[in-house]
Amino acid sequence: MCHGAAARACHVRYPFFPACGAGPGTGLGSIQSRRTPVRRAKISIIGAGNVGATCAHWAAAKELGDIVLVDIPDRVGVAQGKALDLAQCGPIERFDANITGTSDYKDTANSDVVVITAGMPRKPGMSRDDLIGVNVKIVKDVTEQVAKHSPNAILIVVSNPLDAMVYTAWKVSGFPTHRILGQAGALDVARFRTFLAMKLGCSIEDISSLLLGGHGDDMVPLPRFTSVAGIPIDQLLSQADITECVERAKVGGGEIVKLMGTSAYYAPASGTIQMVEAIVKDKKRIVPCAAYCEDEYGVSPGQKGKGYFVGVPVVLGSKGMEKVVPIKMTGDESKLMAESVSHVKDLVATVQKMFPELA
Ligand code: APR
Repeated sequence: MCHGAAARACHVRYPFFPACGAGPGTGLGSIQSRRTPVRRAKISIIGAGNVGATCAHWAAAKELGDIVLVDIPDRVGVAQGKALDLAQCGPIERFDANITGTSDYKDTANSDVVVITAGMPRKPGMSRDDLIGVNVKIVKDVTEQVAKHSPNAILIVVSNPLDAMVYTAWKVSGFPTHRILGQAGALDVARFRTFLAMKLGCSIEDISSLLLGGHGDDMVPLPRFTSVAGIPIDQLLSQADITECVERAKVGGGEIVKLMGTSAYYAPASGTIQMVEAIVKDKKRIVPCAAYCEDEYGVSPGQKGKGYFVGVPVVLGSKGMEKVVPIKMTGDESKLMAESVSHVKDLVATVQKMFPELA
C-alpha cells in the first residue's frame, strides 16, 4: 500500500495498479512509490452535447489532463457513453487520460479548469441573443454547482449569448475576474484566418490576426493587425476582398447554423481548447477572449466593480487571464469597439431585468 502523498499520486495517475509498491513483480509500483507526486490537470466540461464532447475530444487528443464530462441526469448515459468511447481512442491516438461521464458534480471536485457548454444551441433563424432566457437559467444552475465543488477553478464559458453568460457565471460564482473567461475571439479570429487563407490560397499557419468586441455580428475585426508571414494583409488582398472575409467571419456561426440546422461545434471547441491548453501549460499565449474590463478599452472608466466582459486580447496562463493587452486604435476602430461594448451592456441589462438576483 502507498501512504500519504504517494497514495494520492497512485490514485490520481494509476488507479488500476492496486499492487502499487506491494511486492515483487510490480516494477511500476515501486517506481511509482518513489516519484514526486505530480497531478495531471483536471478539466471538467459541463454539457456533453456537440460542443462539450468535441472539447473533450480535442483536450484528450492533446493530452491536456483528466477529463470529466457532465450532463443532466436524463442524459448521463450520453455523457458516460461519450467518455468511454473517447477513452477507447487512447490506445490508438496514444493519449493517457482518465475520462469520466457523470451527472454528479462531486466528480468534478477540485477541477483546475471548468468549461461551461451547457445550454441550448441556435436553430435556423435564431440569433444568439434569442437564447438568453433559457441559457441564463442553465448557466446559473451549473455555475452554482461548479463553484461549490471547484472553488479555485478557472471558468471558461462557451454557452451563448456568450457575453451575457460570462457575466452570469461571474455573478453566480463570485470568483475573481481573472478566473472568468469567455470563449469567442479564439473562434472568431480562427474563422477570419480561415477565410483569408481560402482567398489567398496559402497556409492558415502563416496568417496572424486579431479582433475585438462581442461575439457575433458586432465583433471588431482588425485588418490593420493582420499579416501573412509578416506581410501586411493590405499588400496581398484588395480592400474589397478583405471586407468580404471580415463580413463572412462576422456571420460565420450563422452560415453554419443555416447549413446544419444547429450551431457549429468543431471550431468553437477547438478555440476553447486553445484557451485550456494555454492555461494548463502556462503558455502565456495572447488570445482574444471575453475578459473583464473597466478602464481597459474604455469599457467602464473609473467604475470599480462595474466592468463588463468584452472581447479583448489577453495573456492566458496558469492564473487564467493574466493581463489585458492594450492596443492603440484608430478613430473608426474605437467607434466600432464602443458599439460592440454597448451591445454587451444591453445584453447584461436584459439579464439583470430578467433575473434581478444577478444585478
Ligand atoms: N447541466 C448540464 N448540462 C446541461 C444542462 C445543465 N443544467 N442543461 C443542458 N445541458 C446539456 C444538454 O443536455 C446537452 O447535452 O448541454 C448540452 C448542450 O449540447 P447541444 O444541445 O449539443 O448544444 P451545443 O451545440 O453543444 O451548444 C451548447 O454552446 O456554442 C454554444 O450556442 C451554443 O449555447 C450553445 C452551447
